[in-house]
Order: sequence, then C-alpha cells, then structure tokens
Amino acid sequence: MSVLLTGGAGYIGSHTAVSMIEAGEKVVVADNLSNASYESLRRVQELTGAEIPFYQLDLRDERAMNGMFERENIESVIHFAGLKAVGESVEKPLLYYRNNLDSTLTLLEVMERYGVRNIVFSSSATVYLDGNAPFSENSPLGCACPYGWTKFMIEQILRDAAATGKLSAVLLRYFNPVGAHPSGRIGEDPSGVPANLMPYISQTASGKREKLTVFGNDYPTRDGTGERDYLHVCDLAEGHVAALRYCREHPGAEVFNLGRGQGVTVLELIEAWNRANAMTIPYVIGSRRDGDIAVSYAIADKAKALLGWEARRSVEDMCRDAWNWQKQNPNGYEL
Ligand code: NAD
Ligand code: UD1
Repeated sequence: MSVLLTGGAGYIGSHTAVSMIEAGEKVVVADNLSNASYESLRRVQELTGAEIPFYQLDLRDERAMNGMFERENIESVIHFAGLKAVGESVEKPLLYYRNNLDSTLTLLEVMERYGVRNIVFSSSATVYLDGNAPFSENSPLGCACPYGWTKFMIEQILRDAAATGKLSAVLLRYFNPVGAHPSGRIGEDPSGVPANLMPYISQTASGKREKLTVFGNDYPTRDGTGERDYLHVCDLAEGHVAALRYCREHPGAEVFNLGRGQGVTVLELIEAWNRANAMTIPYVIGSRRDGDIAVSYAIADKAKALLGWEARRSVEDMCRDAWNWQKQNPNGYEL
C-alpha cells in the first residue's frame, strides 16, 4: 500500500517524502514538473535509500491518472500539486482556477473510482481574513487573491465530498514554510527573483542579490515590520505524517493550522539569520508591498491536541539550514 504525493517533486512535497519514508510509508509521486525538477526526487531517493515510483503527469489528465491508480496500490493521497504564486494569480486568475480546481476534481473522481478514501490537502493561512491574527481554525475567512480563493474553494469541495461519508479529508493551513533539509541536499528552488523573504535573504547572503528591501517599517508591530509565523519545512513535513495518521482514523473533514504559533518580524528574521550564520545581511527599508498584511501567526493548539504534533525547530535552525542549502546549491537543482 502506498501514499500518493501529488506535486511531490516540489519544495514541501520532497521534504514530506523524506519524512513519510522515515515513518515507514511507501511513497508514489505524481508531478507535471511545471515548477519542480526530477533532481529533487533523485536526491530524496539518495537520502532515504528508498525507490520512489514517479509519474510525470498532469493531474487533470484523467487517463494518465487512471493508469497510475491502476498500476499502484494507492491507499491515501497527500495533495500538494497546485500553482502558488500570489502575484501571478492576480494576473492570470483563470490559469489558477483551471489548474488548481480541475486537478483537485479529477483527483477526487479517480480516488472515488479506485476506492481511495484518505486525503490530506495543502491549504494556506492565506484563507484567513486580514486583521484577526493570531488565527485559530475558527477565525473568519476571506481571501485577497485568486490563489487564496482556490484554497478556500478546494477546502469547501473537500468538506462536501467528505460529508457523503466516502472520504476522509484533513485540511492543513500552512503558515510560512522556510528552510531546508539539514543535509543541504533538498530545499526551496524559486525560479527568477524570489518573491518571498527567506529565499531573498539566502540569495543576498550568497551574493546573487545585492541587498534585501524590507517592505515597510510603519506597520503596527514591535519594530514596524511585517510579522509572520515561520515554520521549518521539516517540521511541516512531519506534520503531514501526523495528519495522515489522523485522517486514516477519522472519517469526515477536519482543518488544522500548521505553524509555530509565534510571530517573527522581518528585522527579527534578519537578526536570527545573522546570528545563526555569523554574517550581516545588507538591507534597506522600502515601501510597503501591495496586498501585504501586518501580522499573521497561528494559534497552533488544535494540531498539538488532536495530531500530537508541534514544531520542534527554532528560527535559527531554519536560517542555518536555508543557508546550508543555498551554499551547496547556488543555482538550486540546476546542475
Ligand atoms: P511547489 O511549486 O514547489 O510544489 C507544487 C508542485 O505541484 C510543483 O512541483 C508543480 O510542478 C506541481 N504541479 C502544479 N500543478 C500541477 C498539475 N496540474 N499536475 C501535476 N503537478 C502539478 O510548491 P510548494 O511550496 O511545495 O507548495 C506545495 C503546496 O502547498 C501547494 O499547494 C501550495 O499552494 C501550498 N502552500 C505552500 C506554501 C509555501 O509557502 N510554500 C504556503 C501555503 C500553502
Ligand atoms: C506569502 C504569500 C502568501 C503565502 C505565504 C506562504 C504573497 C503576497 N503572499 O506571504 O499567500 O501563503 O507566502 O509562505 O506572496 N518581505 C520583505 N522583503 C522581501 C520579501 C518579503 O520585507 O523581499 C516581507 C513581507 O512584507 C512580509 C514578510 O517579509 O512581511 C514575509 O513575506 P513572504 O515571505 O513573501 O510571505 P507572506 O507575505 O507571508
């Protein structure tokens, strides 16, 4: 029996593959490689010694999906596959709705056809309505971009599908996953200029970018800069192992925040990086980024109580491991 990781060649999927294999699971990956490289999976196999059946397919291709479910003995699915760039989703909303919704619907239909009942879904803290942090699972919802709405809509689709009694769904709202596997062999490999803070800091550290621009220092936070709940990607990966265990034992749909439950400002993250890696990241203060919110962090109690999961790694661990990955792979997976 295997666990299918859709989008498993990507950043979070590849780290989760390692944790799942370490937990004794057999893993199958399906990915169209639109935002990933097979090299990540080659390295996961090298790290774990496991063989991972890989299907390069688009989740919307029902025939290819049937073929995979026919060949593999799939028992559960962790559904990472999707497009995730906020700015691009504003420019190309139809691309986002088509890709993220269609791929989920096709996946659910094929799962039903093959009698697969368990699904863990990658949702996002971006579904929470701004202004109510810290966010609990019951905080009001509302999204600021098409990407966020795809997460919101897929959550609803999964709740409705689970209400029939034929599906067990766990919806995971990730906060800000950062860092890399401590080996430095797998990590985040953004294409082009990074939109997110941690990869931008990493590339500034390596000299690929001259300096970081801090997007605003006039927010109502401790030091005026944006506050987020950064979470080590290996903690997040382990959260999926716990979530899948819960999913197998609990029919219906349940939602969990995965975060550390601690807000860290941009300046605090820079300081943590400097401490962890004995360097000084050059930065300037710039204006606010459109669409940014001041504060986002989790109330993480539910995952602790029901999944028995909580983040173990510190902000310094995230910075150390991000730098270790960046140093060893200045051009990501490009060989
Ligand atoms: P990623 O882009 O590295 O991984 C997603 C993978 O899905 C990629 O490998 C891509 O090639 C694949 N994919 C996309 N559309 C596909 C399709 N139609 N068929 C087959 N494969 C397809 O992103 P990630 O950071 O690993 O994120 C994984 C999931 O977690 C995504 O759903 C994302 O929205 C969600 N998430 C990510 C973050 C974050 O900060 N990284 C935060 C919250 C939620
Ligand atoms: C981004 C996504 C969000 C997603 C989340 C998951 C956007 C607009 N939002 O949010 O939908 O759920 O990632 O990880 O992309 N910052 C700088 N300088 C930079 C980059 C960022 O100061 O060069 C600041 C931002 O203003 C913010 C913080 O760093 O205060 C974190 O930014 P980022 O890493 O982009 O994450 P989010 O904004 O939380």
